[in-house]
Amino acid sequence: MRNLNNPNLSISHKEPGQFEETRFEKIHNKIFKSSEIGSKIVAKEIADLIKQKQKENKKCVLGLATGSSPIKVYEELIRLHQEEGLSFHNVITFNLDEYYPMEKDNVESYHYFMQENLFKYIDIDPKNIHIPDGMVLKEDLDEFCMNYDRAILNAGGLDFQLLGIGRTGHIGFNEPGSHANSGTRSITLDHITREDAASSFLGINNVPRRAITMGIGTIKKAKRIVLLAWGENKASIIKETIEGEISSQVPATYLQSHNNTTFVLDNEASSELTRINTPWLVSSCLWTEELKSKAIVWLCEKVNKPVLKLNDKHYNDHGMSGLLAEEGPAYDINIKMFNKLQRTITGWPGGKPNADDLNRPERAFPASKKVLIFSPHPDDDVISMGGTLDRLVEQGHEVHVAYQTSGNIAVSDEEALRYAEVALEISSENDENIKNVISALKTKKISPVDELIIRTIKGRIRRKESLGATRFLGVPDENVYFLDMPFYETGSVKKKNLSPEDIEIITKLILAIEPHQIYAAGDLADPHGTHKVCLDAIFDSIENLKEAPFMKDCWVWLYRGAWHEWEPYEIEMAVPMSEDQVLKKRKAIFYHQSQKDNVMFQGEDSREFWVRVEERTKNTADKYNALGLAEYTAIEAFKRYYF
Ligand code: F6R
Repeated sequence: MRNLNNPNLSISHKEPGQFEETRFEKIHNKIFKSSEIGSKIVAKEIADLIKQKQKENKKCVLGLATGSSPIKVYEELIRLHQEEGLSFHNVITFNLDEYYPMEKDNVESYHYFMQENLFKYIDIDPKNIHIPDGMVLKEDLDEFCMNYDRAILNAGGLDFQLLGIGRTGHIGFNEPGSHANSGTRSITLDHITREDAASSFLGINNVPRRAITMGIGTIKKAKRIVLLAWGENKASIIKETIEGEISSQVPATYLQSHNNTTFVLDNEASSELTRINTPWLVSSCLWTEELKSKAIVWLCEKVNKPVLKLNDKHYNDHGMSGLLAEEGPAYDINIKMFNKLQRTITGWPGGKPNADDLNRPERAFPASKKVLIFSPHPDDDVISMGGTLDRLVEQGHEVHVAYQTSGNIAVSDEEALRYAEVALEISSENDENIKNVISALKTKKISPVDELIIRTIKGRIRRKESLGATRFLGVPDENVYFLDMPFYETGSVKKKNLSPEDIEIITKLILAIEPHQIYAAGDLADPHGTHKVCLDAIFDSIENLKEAPFMKDCWVWLYRGAWHEWEPYEIEMAVPMSEDQVLKKRKAIFYHQSQKDNVMFQGEDSREFWVRVEERTKNTADKYNALGLAEYTAIEAFKRYYF
């Protein structure tokens, strides 16, 4: 059942001609350039509903979610309350879920989350707030859950339900296997869900195994449902949910049979939808340069042929006859694409001196460039572009490396204790400072927030590891900067928002160096992750500085973080590495000893960083090879940012 027609939408949902484009899609969705814009629109819809109900003298019953997805919606609702007088006096809320067991004042509880992210800033009557109680006695659980559903019914039912989506396809905590008619109940959390929560709980072992959640049936009774999904990490589950069949294995697909649901997505979360990922399969396309590259690289993979072996039939059989008509025959298109891709390859990431640079990714002049590499954490530089960094130094460029955050929360207590004990042994016996560190570490309670004294030693460990690596690659110590951006310094996984102070730090450094090249981590996978915040700070600084004369000569290159890589159609500079360079890069990564073996924030991938990254650079090289370009051991990839 398609629910594309929705009379109640303030998120307007139907542009002319859209039916053809959305023929693969079974849930209405809107795609926004950023989570900020999407969140503001959703907040406006909620605010309008609250005001409408106020006019009618009625209560407004909202179903609310926690997690990273709704945070910006809540921020906007708070702003509307504080600056535009939006009142919540007629609002009754029911939250989707709570961990079980979980105390209300635990910082990881959803009670705490809702207070901190919404309730304490608005004028809602506390008795109108409902969140499942994570401390209800086991024997009272069933009754508690039935009463929760009854309370929603007695309030008049949910007027609006806000949802996020888990990588398992859960909504609320309805994990795979949930029944379409399920009511509020206790449930066992999926392993993937627990992994996703592991970093906030400082390790998967601390994540509760169970939760209480509103049921699918409860959620589907809502008159209006809006599901938010931001970032690349959600792209594949969003495609499955919107385009797949209804299945208990992906509980969010049950929303296909709700007739007033909208998914609100950002570009990244929508990136695997057929009409976005392979639009040529859906309707006629405007063949931009980027789309041509994407389609032809896709076609090569599909028919398992290098670019120069594609023929007219391949194009015609795979939805690309329009391109053939515009620019064909295949032979001509192939040659152009082959040259374009081939020219991204360079062993001279800083430009090749005295060479014709018309078709090279970088300028030949000036022969010796000032290069500023920003690394969000102390190790992303070597992990993501260690081979390129090495070449830049060897080819005589003035290389500067700036570590944006201290990375202090990612060092384990055991690691810190080991260093502190060595320091004590070789210092004078009475070094009070070191003794204090040791005693703070030994008496530390399980708490998500480290004391300043512990954070300091952990940050220092990462500094010295970084210096080991940069020295190994030949960067002088005076060209290495530890920026300790304040947004990161909370001592916990949850960070502060970017402040003018953060941006000022970046701006000052760029001004002091006046670089010809800036490298930055273009990691867009997680909208609330440190990499994205670090990138935003750089983009904001560049925006402030872009009129400065030296910026006319400054090119910005984006590398990806440890988790993702640019696809060949996105790559504008591909720097090959020899086997020796791969080994040298591995050694540089090894200097970051605190991040080896048992990494604190491993994520779902249990491989060590150097293993992941070697597979990644080999993978890019293999893809270039399969396209019929050149055969290398490994390739590091960059995309240019134009400002
Ligand atoms: C939260 C909830 C979950 C989350 C989902 C996505 O109350 O019920 O379904 O919405 O796990 O979490 P984030 O938004 O953190 O990606």
